[in-house]
Amino acid sequence: KPRIAIFISGSGTNMAALLYASLLDNSHYQVVLVASNIPDAAGLEIARAEGVETFVHSHKGHSREAHDAAMEAALIGAETEYLVLAGYMRILSDEFVRRWEGRILNIHPSLLPKYKGLDTFARAIAAGDSHAGASVHVVTPELDAGEVLAQARVTIRGSETPGSLAERVKYAEHQLYPRAVADYVSARKAS
Ligand code: GAR
Repeated sequence: KPRIAIFISGSGTNMAALLYASLLDNSHYQVVLVASNIPDAAGLEIARAEGVETFVHSHKGHSREAHDAAMEAALIGAETEYLVLAGYMRILSDEFVRRWEGRILNIHPSLLPKYKGLDTFARAIAAGDSHAGASVHVVTPELDAGEVLAQARVTIRGSETPGSLAERVKYAEHQLYPRAVADYVSARKAS
């Protein structure tokens, strides 16, 4: 099965969804590494509990290139084929992205091309949008701009706050991301 690594910075709920999907019968990928720039990222514990290799490298005190080089060494060490970003709150250097071109996926909490960057839920509510959502896309050097592979839509209710919306979009992300990753790596394997 294709070997994927997951980069996280936070709670790692998308990582957990990806990992548990990979442990089902007939899954389409295996998680070989979970790595983080935040030493106490909660998701690291989840990965360790399931026996998945973890790697931590704080970005503090390092240039972007030096930090990415350390993370990349871990990817290579784990013989990673695909890198899946799941709440990884660092921008990857252009050189790194070019070396892994077509092999890095990200999930972004908006219906791209709307609301690239941060504060996506507050921006969607302020704009009066009927829906928010999440997009899985291929990572390119330009932020949140690579090809969109799949999206999940979530209705914005009258009483919505950014927090309530974020919680519901996460439920949708947990369904969307494992399927999108499986479809992507399967299609690339077949071609
Ligand atoms: C997710 O909602 C993801 O879409 C978002 O961070 C959250 C991570 O949650 N990603 C970004 O904002 C990327 N710029 P998790 O750690 O529980 O998976």
